[in-house]
Amino acid sequence: MLDSGCGTGWSTARLAERYPDAIVLGVDQSAARLERFREPELPNMRRVRARAEDFWRLLAADGIRPARHFLLYPNPWPKAAQLRRRWHGHPVFADLLALGGSLELRTNWRIYADEFRIAAGTCGIDTPPVVSFSVDSPLTPFERKYAESGHRLYRLCLNLEK
Ligand SMILES: C[S@@+](CC[C@H](N)C(=O)[O-])C[C@H]1O[C@@H](n2cnc3c(N)ncnc32)[C@H](O)[C@@H]1O
Repeated sequence: MLDSGCGTGWSTARLAERYPDAIVLGVDQSAARLERFREPELPNMRRVRARAEDFWRLLAADGIRPARHFLLYPNPWPKAAQLRRRWHGHPVFADLLALGGSLELRTNWRIYADEFRIAAGTCGIDTPPVVSFSVDSPLTPFERKYAESGHRLYRLCLNLEK
């Protein structure tokens, strides 16, 4: 399983606990964030410093396909001029979809999820609706922060298996 843009890796640890039979890779480009992880690494998790776009392409080149992929609160890049930095506007988007498995996007910015859904649909993926959800037990530090400050949170779950 992949946790792309994992921040410190706290969410990677939570996923490793929830899915003890999986190996969960947390990927983040920020050494500063990764160094702030304060827990012992669980045996079924690894944290990797890499640009996600490079890592996804390397996985694809080696034929490695995650069973599940989480994009948890990616940077929104909200200005119109930043559209190409959102994952669905980025040149790597087709490679991201080609990794397969199930993909779960979570965001507090509805537009991001709606755009991602439209872009995936344009690439031939079946796209269920974006749903809003409430948090019982936060999966990430950003999720906790947003939930505590009363933000609405959105989730898009795609099945990328052909
Ligand atoms: C808004 S934070 C969310 C962190 C974590 N997923 C959470 O929910 O608490 C976005 C994270 O994505 C990482 N990030 C942004 N662009 C990235 C890229 N191209 N490759 C890898 N990580 C990236 C940032 O370093 C940051 O840790």
